[in-house]
Amino acid sequence: MLNFTIDLAKKAGEIILSEKKKLVVEKKSRREIVTNADIAAENYITSRILEKYPNHHILGEESFIKTQDYQHSADLWIIDPIDGTTNFAQGLTEYGVSVGYYHNLAPVVGVIYFPEKNMFFSSQISRGAYLNGNKIHVSNKKDMKDAVLGSLFSYDTDENMIIFDISKKLYREIKTIRFFGSAVLDICFVAQGTLDGTVGYALKPWDTAAAYLIVKEAGAVVTTLKGRPWNIFEKELLVANKFIHPQLVNFFTQILP
Ligand code: IPD
Ligand code: CA
Ligand code: CA
Repeated sequence: MLNFTIDLAKKAGEIILSEKKKLVVEKKSRREIVTNADIAAENYITSRILEKYPNHHILGEESFIKTQDYQHSADLWIIDPIDGTTNFAQGLTEYGVSVGYYHNLAPVVGVIYFPEKNMFFSSQISRGAYLNGNKIHVSNKKDMKDAVLGSLFSYDTDENMIIFDISKKLYREIKTIRFFGSAVLDICFVAQGTLDGTVGYALKPWDTAAAYLIVKEAGAVVTTLKGRPWNIFEKELLVANKFIHPQLVNFFTQILP
């Protein structure tokens, strides 16, 4: 199943690069967009999964049906065809294809491919996390004041005003913050140790499903901001190495209502 998932993500990446040459951008809301590449990549991934596993279910960003009960799907594939669509449409290279397979809502396989970075991250439960086939691990930085953290925005203006306020307070306590504009990129960077942690506030299952397994297998601690256990339907996410994570939970517990 891992090789199948890697192949899916890589071929979807090729489709995205070819669709980019005839880019069509549509607005979903004031700030959120979808492109021909998002649709083509998700259609491709979905049709190949259903061809191989006709009884499995798919939770994909672009084909998501609000009324469908995904919580009870025993075999669930969770897909973000392009995470970082705004980056993609701007010509930035910080975007990735994310494919995760969950059994009874527990992660089994997670693959993320960055088509313009020649990076593919992969993981299977209890088998570690890999970047281009080489094992990876989170950073071992000990103190939050030395931490370089990622942080993620929402598409909602009011929510982002709150995120800016929190970020101002967070910045005082750490080394610095990076806003890359892709949840899967942030989380994979934590997995490979090039970020010491990341903070998400307005996430959907497709932003986190595959990345969660990769970063857990790379040794990270993953919870909500105040340290509650995390699941794929949580909006918020705090990922960091085991030294910095409790310090961040302490910080968020103090500043959040
Ligand atoms: C978004 C990106 C962004 C994050 C948002 C996500 P999309 O995904 O990951 O960095 O802040 O919460 O929705 O729309 O590019 O797939
Ligand atoms: Ca996304
Ligand atoms: Ca997306």
